[in-house]
Amino acid sequence: MLERFLGCFSSDLALDLGTANTLLSVAGEGIVLDEPSVVAVEGQTNRILSGGCAVGHLARQMLGRTPKSISVVRPLSDGVITDFELCEAMLRYFFHKAQRGGLRLKPRVLVAVPGCITPVEKRAVFNSTHRAGARQVFLQTEAKAAAIGAGLPIAEPVASMVCDIGGGTTEVAVISMADVVASRSIRAGGDKMDRAIVDYLRRHYSLRIGLSAAERLRIDTGSAYPLEEELVQEVSGLDTQSGLPRKATVTSEEVRQALGDPLEKILEAIKETLDHCSPDLAADLVDSGMVLCGGGALLRGIDRYLAEQTGLPVRVTAEPLAAVARGTLICLEHFDRWRPTFQSSDDDV
Ligand SMILES: Nc1ncnc2c1ncn2[C@@H]1O[C@H](COP(=O)(O)OP(=O)(O)OP(=O)(O)O)[C@@H](O)[C@H]1O
Ligand SMILES: [Mg+2]
Repeated sequence: MLERFLGCFSSDLALDLGTANTLLSVAGEGIVLDEPSVVAVEGQTNRILSGGCAVGHLARQMLGRTPKSISVVRPLSDGVITDFELCEAMLRYFFHKAQRGGLRLKPRVLVAVPGCITPVEKRAVFNSTHRAGARQVFLQTEAKAAAIGAGLPIAEPVASMVCDIGGGTTEVAVISMADVVASRSIRAGGDKMDRAIVDYLRRHYSLRIGLSAAERLRIDTGSAYPLEEELVQEVSGLDTQSGLPRKATVTSEEVRQALGDPLEKILEAIKETLDHCSPDLAADLVDSGMVLCGGGALLRGIDRYLAEQTGLPVRVTAEPLAAVARGTLICLEHFDRWRPTFQSSDDDV
C-alpha cells in the first residue's frame, strides 16, 4: 500500500551498470541516459573534478590526456564494482541527471548484474545503489535481461540462447520457460581484448600503447573472421627500448591474431553452456540459434566466427549495446510479473 503511494511520486529506474557503459531507463519513458562508466578525480583528494560533474562523457574525453595530478577512473572492472565511493558518486550523478534534477522521491532501482557475481560483490551493488539514492534495489541477471531485450521468446517452452559480450564480462545463457537452464558468466570481454592487443604490440613491435589506443584499433580494424578486404592502421606509442614516441602500421590479420585468446575463451564458455543442455533443448537451438548482444557483438565477423565454430545459426541483435537496458526496463515495467526472478537486499545473498 505504502509502496503504491510512494510509487505515485517517484519514477522507477532500470540500471545497466556496465564496466564500460552505464544506461539508465525510466519506466514509461525508455532509455534516458547512456554514458561511459568513468569519473575524473583529483589524485590527492579523490574528489571528482568540475564540482562533481566530471562523470561519464565529460570524464571520458579526459581519458589518457590528463596531467599527473588528475586521474580518470573506472569504478567497475570485470563487471563488478572495484571503487565503491566513486561508483556511488557516479550513480548519484546519473540518477540526478536521469530524473532531470526534478524534485522526486527516491526511486526503486532494478540493476542488471553478471551471473558470476559473488555475494560480496552483490552486496556492493546493493549498497552503492542505495547510497546513491535508491529507495529499494532489485537485481536481475544480465543474461536474462539481454534475452528479453533482444526480444527472444524466453517464456515459451523452447530453448533460446543469448551471448552478451560486454567490456568486462561475457554472459552466455540458454533460457526456456522464463528460467535459465544453462549458463556461463566469464570475466572476459572488450577489456581483455584490449590488453591482448597491447601485449601483441609490445611483443611484435616493441611498442607500448595505451588501452584507449588498443580499443580504437580493435573497433576500427579488429575482426574475428577473415575480412573480404583486410585493413591496415597506423598506431602511435612509445618504443619500449628508447622510450621515444613512434608509429607502427598494423594489419587487421595481426589484430585478429592478437584477439585469438580472448575469443577462444568466449567460444569455450558457449561450448560449456551447450554441454549442459539436454538433447531436446540443444535440438531447439539448431533452428533458433544464438543471439549476440553487448558492444562485443559489434566486432567484425564475430557472428560468422561463432557460427562456424559451434554449427549454430548466430545473429547480432539490433542495437546490441542497449539490449540489457531494454530488457531490464521491460522487467521493471512488468514488475509484478518478473518480481519472482529478482533478488532484493532482503533476500539472503
Ligand atoms: N563498433 C564496435 N566494435 C567493436 N567493439 C565495440 C564497438 N562499440 C563498442 N564496442 C565495445 O563494446 C564494449 C562495451 O560494451 P557494453 O557497453 O555492452 O559493455 P558493458 O555493459 O559496459 O560491460 P559489462 O556488461 O561487461 O560490464 C567495449 O569494450 C567497447 O570497446
Ligand atoms: Mg553489459
